[in-house]
Amino acid sequence: MPDIIAVTRDGLSLGFPCPTSTNVLAAAEEAGFFLPSVCQHGRCGTCRAKVISGAYELMPHEAPLPPGPGAVLLCRCQPREDLVIELPCRDAQIGRRKVPERHAVVEAVTIAPEGWVALSLLLQREAEYGHAAEFVPGQYMELRIPGTALWQAAAMENLPNEEGRLAFLLPAAPDEALSAWAAAAKRGAEVQLRGPLGKFALDETSPRPRCLVGSGAGLAPLLSMLRHLASLRDRTRVHLIFEAAVAELAFLERSLASLRAGLPQLTVALAPGGAAAALAAQLAKTPAADVYAAGPPLLLAAVHQVALAQDVPEARIRTAPAGGLRDNAAGLLTGA
Ligand code: FES
Repeated sequence: MPDIIAVTRDGLSLGFPCPTSTNVLAAAEEAGFFLPSVCQHGRCGTCRAKVISGAYELMPHEAPLPPGPGAVLLCRCQPREDLVIELPCRDAQIGRRKVPERHAVVEAVTIAPEGWVALSLLLQREAEYGHAAEFVPGQYMELRIPGTALWQAAAMENLPNEEGRLAFLLPAAPDEALSAWAAAAKRGAEVQLRGPLGKFALDETSPRPRCLVGSGAGLAPLLSMLRHLASLRDRTRVHLIFEAAVAELAFLERSLASLRAGLPQLTVALAPGGAAAALAAQLAKTPAADVYAAGPPLLLAAVHQVALAQDVPEARIRTAPAGGLRDNAAGLLTGA
């Protein structure tokens, strides 16, 4: 059986065996290393890495790969001999515990005229985890789409609670399996989940203003963070910049309405023309801000670039890809 050596960005090595019929990501999990991943089916690009030596086969995938030799998606990479792999994350970003597996039932589904689906699930009581919905605002769960082997990540938009309630806001996306399933889900339908996951979280102790930037599925974790600030009665300046289609603006205004009383200092810029440009304008006025961004990879890359250009230190730029939302204090994804 091939042996895999995976080297983190900070130079630490993980070693584990990987059968030739298994992908490297799954073999790592089997060995207790939970590497950054979201879809596990070659679609999100979260598990990109680089094979330094050894032969492998790359199964079909949709996510693009950077040019150059050795670029792989670990969830689609099966070894044909021993591999040495370079990981784009630090050791601290790799989970070492098994992700909790939970069960829930559909409590309610609401479809907004703009197409967004609000899905509310109630966790089942389990001996190991109890009943409460415990998570950090900004984290996400992976949901198994019933009747399939597919898992998809979605961040909670509510706050942790004793009732076991997990609330998700899924953007209208007819080609996206989770929102399509949720839109037709019946009350009481059973759902399997894994999580909570992700390190995308607020630095609650920061005295600096905060800029929260997002698009699409990035709305949910940002809303959860804002609700958290409201619950703390935090009065630090906070700016939400959200990129949305004009047709979505009314929905977003409604989603934010309940927050405004609890966060009177909140300013909101709904930016159909591009969130990165709006962030640049905001940072010109509040250069010492912390930046949090959740959304598609292109948006995150643009936000990162804008923030660095405005002298926001790398450590204060926190990003999470939408639909996956595996964290990163360094701008890259991670699990756990
Ligand atoms: S592409 Fe591998 S986890 Fe999504």
